[in-house]
Amino acid sequence: MIFVDRREELEALKKLVENKIHVLIYGLRGIGKSALLRKLKDELSPRYDVLIIDGYRISSLRDISDIIGMDIVDSKSAISKLLSLDEKVIIIDEFSAFFEVLSRDEELRSGENVARLFRHYLQERRERSGNSIILCGSNIGVVRRIAMRYFAPLFREFKIIRVGNMPLSSILELAQSYGIEREYALETAQLSGGNPLYAIKIIEEVLTGKTPQEALERLLSPSGDLDIYFSVLFESLDVDERRILYLISRGFRRYKEIKAKSFKDPAAALRKLELNGLIYRVRKGKKFVEYEITDRLFKAWLQHQEVPSLGKKDIKTIIITSLGFEALVRELFRAINREITIRDAINRELKLEPFISVYNLKRGAIEIDLVAFTRNQEAIVAEVHFGEPAGRKKVLQAIRSAKTIEEMGYRTKETLLISYFGFNKEAVKEAEKTEVKLLKEEQLREIERKLGISIGF
Ligand SMILES: Nc1ncnc2c1ncn2[C@@H]1O[C@H](COP(=O)(O)OP(=O)(O)OP(=O)(O)O)[C@@H](O)[C@H]1O
Ligand SMILES: [Mg+2]
Repeated sequence: MIFVDRREELEALKKLVENKIHVLIYGLRGIGKSALLRKLKDELSPRYDVLIIDGYRISSLRDISDIIGMDIVDSKSAISKLLSLDEKVIIIDEFSAFFEVLSRDEELRSGENVARLFRHYLQERRERSGNSIILCGSNIGVVRRIAMRYFAPLFREFKIIRVGNMPLSSILELAQSYGIEREYALETAQLSGGNPLYAIKIIEEVLTGKTPQEALERLLSPSGDLDIYFSVLFESLDVDERRILYLISRGFRRYKEIKAKSFKDPAAALRKLELNGLIYRVRKGKKFVEYEITDRLFKAWLQHQEVPSLGKKDIKTIIITSLGFEALVRELFRAINREITIRDAINRELKLEPFISVYNLKRGAIEIDLVAFTRNQEAIVAEVHFGEPAGRKKVLQAIRSAKTIEEMGYRTKETLLISYFGFNKEAVKEAEKTEVKLLKEEQLREIERKLGISIGF
C-alpha cells in the first residue's frame, strides 16, 4: 500500500492519543481520512491496541457485537460495552453511519439520544483514564451541524481536526510511486487539486497512455468518473445553491456580484453551501466578502458545464483559471484577509495585505501570471513558475511584467518571482540586485500557516 506524507497530521494525532484526548476528524470526500487512520493505526501499534470500526460496514447491533466480541442486547449496551474497552484506542470511521444504526433502537430512536448516551459513557471512560476515541466523518455538513447543535455537548469533548488538501510535493511523490515519470507527475500534482483520490483517478488514466490533461478531460466529460461523482453531488443541491456555484465558478466571487446576479437574496444559500463545506468565505473588510469553491476539481467541472447565460469553458481555459500551480498561487493571494509579514527566500521582509483583485493578464504578447491590487491601487506583480528551480530569465521576466503594469499607469509595490522548487544561483544574484522578492514552497506554506488555511502547498 502506497502512503505519502501527512506527517504533521500523524504527529498531531499521536500526541493527542498519548494524552488520551478524544478527536473528531473531518474533511472532503477522498481527501485521505481513512488512509490516514489506517496509517495512524500502524504507527500506534504495537504500543497501543487500536480498533478501527468502519461505520459503513455496520448494519446491525450484531455487527458491533461481532467486532467487540461481547453480547449486546440493545444500543445502550453496545455503546457502554464498546466504550468500556479502555485499553483500546477506538477509531470510528464514518461515525454518522455508525450512530444511525444505533439510533434505530426502539428506546433511543434519535441521533440526539445516541449522542447523549455516547457522551455519558465517554465521560465515564475519561474518569477511568481510558484511551482516545477518534471519530471520523466525511459529510462536513453533518459533522458541523452535529458539532454545533444537537450534539454540541458531546462534541465539546473532542478536539476537532480538519484534514485538508495534500501538498503538491506529496501528490508528486504519490504519482511517482505509481511509476509515472516526473514531467507527468508534476502535471498530475497540479491537476489533482490536492486530492489524492482525484490524483489516483488521473494516474490510472495516465498509466493507460493518456497525458494528465487528456486524463482529466476524460474524467470530467459526460459519464467520466468525476462527472458522475460531481453530478450526484450537484443534484443533491437546490436551485439557488446551484446558481451560486455556477456564478462563483465563473469568477463572480464577491458577495455584491453574486447578489446582483441572483434572483433572490443569496445569503441563506451561501450559508448553507458554506456549512456543507462546498464553499469557503474570505472576509477582507466590512463590505468586502469573497467566496471560493473548496474542491478545485468540482469547480473545474462546474466551469465545464454549459450554462446558457454563463457559457462553458474548455479544459485548457479551466486549467489556466482554476487548476495548476499559477491558479493555486492566485487562490492563495485572494485568501489573504489581513496584513501579514513574511521573509522571502533570501530573508528580505515582504508585507502582504488583502487585495481588491487578483488575476492573470493576457493581452496579445503580454502574459502576466499574477497581478494583485491593494486598496490604494498599488500593484503586486508576480511571475509564477513550476518545475525545475527558476533561473535568471524568470527574474527578468518578472521585471518586464512589472514594467508593463507601470506603463498601464499603476505603481508597482512589489515584484515577485514565485517558484515552487526554488531558484538557481544566478536567479538569486539577479534578484538581490533588482529587489525582486523570491518565494518558494516554504514561503507559500508560511503564508498558509499565517492565514490558518490549506490551499495545498
Ligand atoms: N497519504 C496518502 N498516500 C497515498 N495514497 C493516499 C493517501 N491518502 C489517501 N490516499 C488514497 O486516496 C484515495 C482516497 O483516500 P481515502 O479513502 O482515505 O479518503 P477519505 O477521505 O476517507 O474519503 P471518503 O470520505 O470517501 O471516505 C484512496 O485510494 C487512498 O488510498
Ligand atoms: Mg473514508
